[in-house]
Amino acid sequence: MTTRTQDGSVGDVAHGAIGSGHASFRRPDERIARFVAEALGDARKVLNVGAGAGSYESAARAVTAVEPSESMRARRPTGLTRAIDAVAEELPFADGEFDAAMTLFSVHQWSDVRTGLREMRRVTVGPVVILTCDPALVRDFWLYRYAPEVLDIEARRYPPVEELAAALGGAWTVQTVPVPLDCTDGFNEAYYGRPELLLDPAARQACSAWSFADDHARERFDRTLRRDLESGVWDEEFGHLRGRPTYEGSLVIVRATP
Ligand SMILES: C[S@@+](CC[C@H](N)C(=O)[O-])C[C@H]1O[C@@H](n2cnc3c(N)ncnc32)[C@H](O)[C@@H]1O
Repeated sequence: MTTRTQDGSVGDVAHGAIGSGHASFRRPDERIARFVAEALGDARKVLNVGAGAGSYESAARAVTAVEPSESMRARRPTGLTRAIDAVAEELPFADGEFDAAMTLFSVHQWSDVRTGLREMRRVTVGPVVILTCDPALVRDFWLYRYAPEVLDIEARRYPPVEELAAALGGAWTVQTVPVPLDCTDGFNEAYYGRPELLLDPAARQACSAWSFADDHARERFDRTLRRDLESGVWDEEFGHLRGRPTYEGSLVIVRATP
């Protein structure tokens, strides 16, 4: 059984409490959108599970959105379809109803990933596309030096990609998605070459892992990163990232076909 918070959120994050700053820091990035579109292929009827405010939904497809959090549903722009209040683990659709299905930046929050993905497979005839982070790679990022707790939390929350693939069955691929230097979707690695931007608490708040970090961890992160930016220590070691057009980190697309 799924437990819901006051705004309907399930899983480990209360989206009503995270706040509306999310919308300005988590805008879909058009370069990442191309990878998602390619993975969906020519599918017309597409299911988006954990759809949030509708990032990466294309007007060129008939999208059905599922989103349990009322505050997230309310953030959907008027041009998009209204999201259905349901959870991945119990999808209110018939077998094979969709050409393709996607779930983006969401599986790490589900209470039962295996059941949720089996549901997605059940209702989809074509590809199921998951945009997520590979937990084996999340600590290979400079942020680990300054906020290890946050990336330890990320590494624990993200399901291993093999588990995702096994739950879906069939044939699957894992593709690294390069993160652009000016990425508009503010997950942690989006700031790989712009460390100063992560000093803004609102930017961090838009990444749910930070909501699990305590005040001590946040204060230490702020103090030590500021210090290393001022002294030039960060740039000595990581400054090459400021000019790198893309970063191949932990962001991946898992794509499974029956
Ligand atoms: C980080 S947001 C991502 C939203 C959107 N996909 C995007 O890329 O902007 C994760 C979303 O997954 C939803 N979610 C969490 N657990 C879920 C579940 N069990 N079933 C469906 N959606 C869930 C949350 O309510 C939240 O809106």
